[in-house]
Amino acid sequence: MGANITFTMIKPTAFKKNCVGKILYKISEAGFRVVAMKVTKLTKAQAMKFYEIHAARPFYGELVEFMSSGPIVAAILEKENAVEAYRTLIGATNPAEAAEGTIRKECGTNIGENAVHGSDSDENAILEANFFFAQTERF
Ligand code: RTP
Ligand code: MG
Repeated sequence: MGANITFTMIKPTAFKKNCVGKILYKISEAGFRVVAMKVTKLTKAQAMKFYEIHAARPFYGELVEFMSSGPIVAAILEKENAVEAYRTLIGATNPAEAAEGTIRKECGTNIGENAVHGSDSDENAILEANFFFAQTERF
């Protein structure tokens, strides 16, 4: 029963809406262990790098501007089957389509400002965790 990790960010709008406590409570209630966590703010260059895979998408510029517009919470979360379990907890990309009780349904604003990021694979979870956290910042 090896636990896996996922990586999350609480995005700027959710941070501004004072949703951090509610989101962390939901994460904790769902049985995730917090391995690492910090409040930080992405530079535009960091946001561009983090979302490089979306560089060709029409919303890339908007996404980069938004993600570097204010403070975020970055965290590594551990649980069995963490990537899939966390994507279930956060709900669909568009908060309007997200299931009742999910983080995006309750804390999202619109498809771009959708409260949180969640890794989409084990490989990306590791890459994303490494983007934000040194080994000495993980417990
Ligand atoms: P995330 O990576 O943030 O966990 O979200 P996701 O997998 O559910 O969605 P993805 O397709 O990876 O898109 C990344 C982020 O880009 C923004 N987006 N905007 N305006 C649009 O049509 C649009 N589509 C996606 C969202 O902020 C999404 O979370
Ligand atoms: Mg994604």
